[in-house]
Amino acid sequence: MATNIGIMVGSLREHSYNRMIADTIPELVDSAQYEFISIADLPLYNADLDREESPESVKRYREAVQQADGIIIVSPEYNSGIPGVLKNALDWASTPTKTAVLIHKPAGVIGATPGVKGTILSQQQIRQTLDAVQSYVMPFQKMYISQAMEKVDPESGKLTDETTRRYVQRYVRSFIQWVDQVQQMNGQ
Ligand code: FNR
Repeated sequence: MATNIGIMVGSLREHSYNRMIADTIPELVDSAQYEFISIADLPLYNADLDREESPESVKRYREAVQQADGIIIVSPEYNSGIPGVLKNALDWASTPTKTAVLIHKPAGVIGATPGVKGTILSQQQIRQTLDAVQSYVMPFQKMYISQAMEKVDPESGKLTDETTRRYVQRYVRSFIQWVDQVQQMNGQ
């Protein structure tokens, strides 16, 4: 059966570069299935809301993460770190502590910025959070995309720079192998 990859975008902006890159992944690697996991309608994390009956949007979100064999996060960097909306989403997926949907979930991280440093700092924090939640972040390989405005086409809403398309393709192919390795390790 094809690997089922959940894609989470850390920007809510309509013409987000990260969204355009995320939207291009399915055409770059068509051997997997993809589900875009929305984080836009999640409430701000509040433990008082996180009891037996959590909000509907949280239930839908957790179910989507649960269903995915692995999660690829595509996110910008805000103020040298993780965007608040993404941290909020990861926090919602980190509880209940013993059965959280991100536990032992393979994860990958891609990030794009109009700047030159490629979201290095944000990705460090995303990895730190995923590590705290006991996700298995694909080691070693990193996907930093700088000067993003030159690499996408706002008309089509897709990643068009050929070199970057090849890098993202390679990253996603490696991620599918990583999911397979983690599933074997998890005895699945
Ligand atoms: C930014 N941006 C930014 N870029 C970067 O490379 N490092 C940073 O620390 C920040 N900080 C930052 C803070 C805030 C509040 C905003 C709104 C923006 C610029 C950011 O990379 C740019 O707006 C991207 O276009 C955001 O990604 P999307 O929405 O295009 O995916």
